[in-house]
Amino acid sequence: MADPTIQKTAQRTLVLLKPDAVRRGLVGEILSRFEKRGLTIVALDMRTIDGEQADKHYAEHVERDFYPPLRAFVTSGPLVALVLEGDSAVEVVRGINGATDGRKAAPGTIRGDFSLSNRENLVHGSDSAESAEREIGLWFPDLV
Ligand code: RTP
Ligand code: MG
Repeated sequence: MADPTIQKTAQRTLVLLKPDAVRRGLVGEILSRFEKRGLTIVALDMRTIDGEQADKHYAEHVERDFYPPLRAFVTSGPLVALVLEGDSAVEVVRGINGATDGRKAAPGTIRGDFSLSNRENLVHGSDSAESAEREIGLWFPDLV
């Protein structure tokens, strides 16, 4: 019988291993960190995206000054898109990824261990449950 005192908090989040992660051979290292933490991979696909997909993914940033070079970067080669599931997955993944700017990210985080850049920072993780739902629908429409 289900234990009513145990809350089901399993959540899904959209993660990207950006083109710098693929180019630098860090896919295995990064996936391993998520898996060892206890998150489950529920979908995974390597793909090279066009500018249109980049604009949809980064809809909140398309008008920003930093967007044109970001767009060029995320379309510059293959990336790995995945959906991770687990307790508080959105927040947990953001913690594993570290601060946006690799120069400021804490040691022990992916960015803090492997990035010195504010743009080429290896990973993306949805920033809220609402963003996760939108991004999973964009990248893996068959999952929703
Ligand atoms: P992400 O969306 O990729 O998980 O990263 P984030 O939430 O930590 O950071 P966000 O503010 O959403 O920025 C998205 C991505 O844009 C690039 N960026 N460049 N000033 C800059 O040059 C600048 N600021 C942000 C980074 O690749 C960042 O991850
Ligand atoms: Mg973001």
